[in-house]
Amino acid sequence: MTAKAAVIGWPVDHSLSPVLHGYWLKKYAIDGSYERIAIPPQQDFGVTVLGLRDAGYRGVNVTVPYKEAAFRLADVKGQNAALTGAANLLLFGKDGRILADNTDGTGLAASLEEKLGPLGGRDGHVVILGAGGAARGALAGLSQRGVARIIILNRHGPRADQLVEQARRQRLPGNVVAGSLEDWPGAARAAWLVINTTSAGMKGNPALAIDVGLLPPSAAVCDIVYNPLETPLLAAAKTRGLETIDGLGMLMHQAAPSFQAFFHAGMGGRRPDVTPELRAVLQEELAQHG
Ligand code: ATR
Repeated sequence: MTAKAAVIGWPVDHSLSPVLHGYWLKKYAIDGSYERIAIPPQQDFGVTVLGLRDAGYRGVNVTVPYKEAAFRLADVKGQNAALTGAANLLLFGKDGRILADNTDGTGLAASLEEKLGPLGGRDGHVVILGAGGAARGALAGLSQRGVARIIILNRHGPRADQLVEQARRQRLPGNVVAGSLEDWPGAARAAWLVINTTSAGMKGNPALAIDVGLLPPSAAVCDIVYNPLETPLLAAAKTRGLETIDGLGMLMHQAAPSFQAFFHAGMGGRRPDVTPELRAVLQEELAQHG
């Protein structure tokens, strides 16, 4: 029987998930399908998800604006979903129960490790720019990889304070402190990695007003935005000779465990490979439809 999965959200027209999963389905010759399903605001999210479960779907990926709703709907919550209060993956069990997980933070960490090597045990700190859902995922992913010192800077400082308070309540290991973007010059000086989790720099949005020239020459800069692939922040970092990590790596690595979970029978339990060829396919898609 064809194994069915989908990405759900609003809007989902521009989601690259069907391209990613479609590539792997073909590569591994799996009898499966992966669709894009839009859930407009006037439609009930929970009813729609239960309908997909009852129609025999293995599970769904969840994108904006439903990640928190997906988390609340689930019967069983994985550790990463619990840490962030949001789910990008729902799996439908044979007993009808819904399992929530979140692969965004681990996907980001895997993408960073691919370029930088192990993240734990380094001198200096990581700066996370932003304090929304994406920053929550990044914080969880980094602290699980043993990153001990993290500074969260947000345009509106109190939101960064809230994230730090939440990390403290969750007993995340390491030292996490908060600030506003005005604290950038002090934070930049001893940073070995900066991660932009804000939507600044995304196509149509203004760029972040921070000076990457204040970073040490050995620092790396990551942007989770992938449209455009080279954000103004990454372009400025490249000009300074800094290592850069774009958002496509995270996109591919967050998708791999979902694919493994949806199509495990055809994969023999293996996780699909993240390869330069897959990156090229996604870049081509962005060039044509981004
Ligand atoms: P997500 O779940 O994708 O993280 P979000 O919860 O809406 O989305 O958070 C967006 C983040 O981008 C926030 O940290 C926001 O800063 P504020 O909390 O101060 O609003 C940040 N952001 C968006 N546009 C920005 C801009 N132009 N400059 C700086 N930060 C920006």
